[in-house]
Formats: sequence, structure tokens, C-alpha cells
Amino acid sequence: MLHMASIHVVNVSKRFGTALSSSLGEQQRQARLTGHPPRERTADDAPPQGEVLALDSVNLDVRDGESMVILGPSGCGKSTLLRVIAGLESYEGEVFYGDRNMRDVPPKDRGIGIVFQNYALYPQFESKGNLAFFFKMHKREEEINERVKQTSQIMGLGFEALLGRMPGTLSGGQKQRVAIARAICRDPRLLLFDEPLSNLDAQLRSSTRIEIRRLINRFAITTLYVTHDQTEATIMGDRLAIMDRGRVLQIGTYRDIYAQPASAFVAGFLGAPPMNLFEGSVEGNRIAALNTYLTPPPHVLDFVVRHQPITVGIRPEDIVVAASDSLDEGERENTLRTAFEFVERLPSDRAQLLHATIGETRLVVRTSLDRHIPLQTPVRLVLPMDRLYFFHAQTGMRI
Ligand SMILES: Nc1ncnc2c1ncn2[C@@H]1O[C@H](COP(=O)(O)OP(=O)(O)OP(=O)(O)O)[C@@H](O)[C@H]1O
Ligand SMILES: [Mg+2]
Repeated sequence: MLHMASIHVVNVSKRFGTALSSSLGEQQRQARLTGHPPRERTADDAPPQGEVLALDSVNLDVRDGESMVILGPSGCGKSTLLRVIAGLESYEGEVFYGDRNMRDVPPKDRGIGIVFQNYALYPQFESKGNLAFFFKMHKREEEINERVKQTSQIMGLGFEALLGRMPGTLSGGQKQRVAIARAICRDPRLLLFDEPLSNLDAQLRSSTRIEIRRLINRFAITTLYVTHDQTEATIMGDRLAIMDRGRVLQIGTYRDIYAQPASAFVAGFLGAPPMNLFEGSVEGNRIAALNTYLTPPPHVLDFVVRHQPITVGIRPEDIVVAASDSLDEGERENTLRTAFEFVERLPSDRAQLLHATIGETRLVVRTSLDRHIPLQTPVRLVLPMDRLYFFHAQTGMRI
């Protein structure tokens, strides 16, 4: 059994598709054999036609006992990363558990429990047989009854009643409980979840995610949890890794990433709704954006003078709707006039989202539900200077 359960993903890439002989992957493999360093990847090294670069030089460290969430849009490589870490896919680069390189360790010997979105129960075994399979495979049959009993206690009310049922007779939620039980039954050092809740209805999803978080806390098992659901991410993740197009863009707590997004992509992804983003260009020592002028901090102005245009961002909750009696105050910097088109009420958050369109830009403003703000009526919005974010328009990197 493995001792240390930290995970270290070092420069891992994964390509799917066409013949690899002409690709950089093959060069790297050969480099490893011959000892000659491969040339650095450049922006011109687009994958050959038909090839998918599912993981692009990914680095990730998960600490012993930590729960790390992999969050990103569909197709960004989350499942592939999880499968590489589990040993279910070939890859370039290295994966360590603790200080041990896992290249030649088969999945069944890694001390991991995996829960997949589609449950992946063995259809020919009843639930108990699903839990027991691992112990049969490892010739540890004598442990089965005790382990199943302990697991049932952990899984709580009503679980024992499922043990004699065949997967085909279980509801989605029941299958998921069996799948989770199967993963923890073997006393794993590492738990891997791939969107385990996405096939459940909203109510079951919210109760099951709390159940899973309790399990994670109780055992302090190192956990990797893949999702594209932000609520799940905040509950499950001590830290988050945000992915896009095969790359890990930023790693940190939800709070830190929310406050300090490294790029426009991350800013425009995290938050519900996410940050408002729009284009700005320099005029004198101000930035013209939307239908107003913004005063940027000096380092941003320096940057913009050299690299126009830039992307400006502000969170919906950071925009201030001025009191209606201040409408006549005339135009000032960092304020703009508009009218809201419609409102989205969020009673459970005691909030409302007000939507406006300024030129080509859709703007969302979040205020307290108590505030009465008329629609289709002129309003003045203030974009406080210390709440503005600035990003490089081409690379998306934060300035
Ligand atoms: N077996 C495969 N063969 C070819 N391409 C694949 C294979 N598996 C994944 N891909 C491709 O690799 C990329 C990443 O896929 P992956 O399943 O890891 O995404 P994901 O982030 O898990 O998406 P989702 O949220 O939809 O599950 C996608 O472009 C996908 O089409
Ligand atoms: Mg997936």
C-alpha cells in the first residue's frame, strides 16, 4: 500500500488522434530515449490536423489530505487529467504519488477509489458484489463482510437495503451511492471523482454533494474532484485548478482566484454571473470604454499606451447604481448612463441581476433585492476605480 498520498503532475501532455510519428510527442519520446533535449514548444506548434491536444504541459500538485477541484468548461481536458492520474491513459511527462513515479504502476495497485459520472457499476453483480469485487481480485475475501458493514455505516440510512439489489434495478441516485460506497470500501489513499453528480436531479445533487464533502472531511483522504459546477467546486475544493483547452490556468482557493483572476478567461468564467468584460482604448490619460471614460492606475495607463486596446472588467456586484436624484449631476469619469432592460430575481440570495446593453456590450449589475430600480428608465452607474480589472486584449493576461 502506498504511504504518501500527495499527487504531483509534472509537465504532462496528452494527445488523442492521428499517427504520432510526425508530432512533437514523438520527438519528446525520442528525446527521452536518446537523452537529447527536445526543442521548446512554440506557438507555431499547432497540433497536426485531426489531433487533439487534450492536455498541454500540465503541472499540478495536490497536497496530502487536500481536496482539489478541477474546474473548467466542457472539453477542456478535466476527465483526461483525472484518467492520466488514475493510470487509465498513456501520457507524456510524469505523475508522482508522494515521491514515487507511477509510470509503471497499474491502476489496481495505486490505492485509488474512482467515482465516474455514469457510475460504471458491474452490471452482473448486485451492490454487495460491486463493493466486494476489489477484495476478490486482490485475494482478500476474508475482509469483505467487515468492510461492507463499515461502509454501510458510513453511507448511512437505507444503504444496507441496497446491498442485495442488482444495478439495473436501482435509481440513478441509488447507483451513485453504491458507486461512492465501492470507491471508499477499499480504504483508498486517493479518491477521484469525475462529475459524480451531474446525472442527478437538483435536490439529490445538493444533498449528495454535502454527503461527499462529509466523507472527504471525515477521512481526510487526498481527493481530486472534477466538475464544471461552481457551487460544487466551492463545497468540494480546498483549492481549485481552473482549466481551459488542455491547460491549467490558475490554482488557488475560490476566494483568491475570484479576487485575483490571472486572466480574462478566468475572470469571465468564475462567478455566477461572471465578471463583465468589455474593450477599452486610451485617449489622453484616460481609457474610453462603454460610453464613458475610466481613470486607470498609472501602470495600466503605461501599458495601454503601448498595447491598445485592452479588456476592462468589473464584477456585477461592484457596479453601483446611483440614487435617481443624482441623475442630473452631469457626466463624470467612471460613471455611465443606461437603462435596464430586464431583471432576474434571486430570492434565496436576496439579490437581483439587472441587465443592460451598452453598444455591443451586455452588462449585468447585481444589487440587493430590496432596492427598487425601475426598468426602461435612465439610471447612472458608477464603476469604482478600485474595482476595475484590466487585461491584455490579445493574451488575456491580467495587467
Ligand atoms: N478517447 C478519446 N479519443 C479522442 N479524443 C478524445 C478522447 N477522449 C477525450 N478526447 C478529446 O480530448 C479533449 C478533452 O476531453 P475531456 O473528456 O478530458 O474533457 P472534459 O473537460 O472532461 O469535458 P466534459 O466536461 O464535457 O466531460 C476533448 O477535445 C475530447 O474530444
Ligand atoms: Mg469529462
